[in-house]
Amino acid sequence: MDKLLIDGGVALKGSVLIDGAKNAALPALAASLLAEDREVLLQNVPSVVDIRTMCRLLGVMGATVEAEGTSIRILPGDLTSLEAPYDLVRTMRASILTLGPMLARYGYAKVSSPGGCAIGERPIDLHLAGLKAMGARIDLHEGYIEGRADRLVGAEIYLDTPSVTGTENLLMAATLAEGNTIIENAAMEPEISDLAALLKAMGASIEGEGTERIEIKGTTRLVGATHRIIPDRIETATYAAVAAISQGDILIEGTDKEMLSSVIRKMTAAGTSITPEGSGFRVSSTGRLRGVDVTTAPYPGFPTDVQAQFMAMMALAQGTSVIREMVFENRFMHVAELRRMGADIRTEGASAVVRGVPSLEGAPVMATDLRASASLVVAGLAARGRTTISRIYHLDRGYSRLEEKLSRLGARVRRVKS
Ligand code: UD1
Repeated sequence: MDKLLIDGGVALKGSVLIDGAKNAALPALAASLLAEDREVLLQNVPSVVDIRTMCRLLGVMGATVEAEGTSIRILPGDLTSLEAPYDLVRTMRASILTLGPMLARYGYAKVSSPGGCAIGERPIDLHLAGLKAMGARIDLHEGYIEGRADRLVGAEIYLDTPSVTGTENLLMAATLAEGNTIIENAAMEPEISDLAALLKAMGASIEGEGTERIEIKGTTRLVGATHRIIPDRIETATYAAVAAISQGDILIEGTDKEMLSSVIRKMTAAGTSITPEGSGFRVSSTGRLRGVDVTTAPYPGFPTDVQAQFMAMMALAQGTSVIREMVFENRFMHVAELRRMGADIRTEGASAVVRGVPSLEGAPVMATDLRASASLVVAGLAARGRTTISRIYHLDRGYSRLEEKLSRLGARVRRVKS
């Protein structure tokens, strides 16, 4: 397993180009299964392990998938297998995104149940209830979800929680259902709007994406289309955190600051300077950051996927900050590792009280999930001495060319095989 060695304490400077959003490319790849004719060409797809896993899954099902640079071409044709096997689903929960499209297009799907993960229980009851409301028969046995439907029918669905992949699964399923579907209390994340844009280009009729009420008029047939994936707002926020914590000055290019208003507000309140420039924005900081409170929430609230990186920043800030995690029940796995680096953090239920310390010290730490790992990188870049992060396969799931991008900014970072 690879490790990342970081010798911290360098103010990072220069520019970094943001890749396409992993969490937009994953549903887009799943949506390609809905096309009856013509290829789906996705551009600006990040080169990360989760994307390769999804491509493998589509390949196992019988789709032809060709990657070239940051473009992926998918020719779904007629699938030969309507099953997402355990071995792939257990490495990537987002495999559940194939359930809706397969059921809608083929009337059958068998997907291994994703189970819990490091950040919480993560049920998929809302995905299943929505599909049932659309007429699907769902059976759970031997760890698999098996869905059947002659043709899905439009329905009015209310999501108790605005689940992101839940909204995406139901949105995709509804495009080929008979009649109209309304999804109330839908997730409003930019990745939902991006998926809707692709589906519309494929011939779907959708209104209200990006709001809490999405209306879909079902059609009988979708076809391939070309679509450019939006920039990764979480990767963007991670590099912003890196600039802020290292007292650096980084131009973050090829991204969209509008998708990160909640994060930018908090970073500015913490004393970071953020100014629009070129195709993105510049983040710089001098002197110590100030402690600010943060509460995670569904979009447009502060993203849970940036909570860990922000906590690393707050670990070095002047004063105390309270960070509340309201989306997942167990997303403080990074706290114990940050403490090993000298951070003063106490957790109580869904809250973490972070008392800023003047310096962190490098230490051997372990990555536990994707964003927790990112927070260790952020902390390691500002710590004195060497931080060795093990289990970095988590980072590889979601960050493309991380060492290369950081090195170009002046970081002393390298990967070693162990
Ligand atoms: C997606 C993102 C993930 C991000 C999360 C929240 C992808 C591939 N992943 O995950 O990076 O951290 O959104 O922004 O896009 N819930 C239920 N029942 C359900 C579904 C969800 O109770 O059927 C609950 C979850 O337990 C959680 C909350 O809803 O507490 C939000 O989860 P959800 O939005 O579904 O997260 P994902 O779509 O899995």
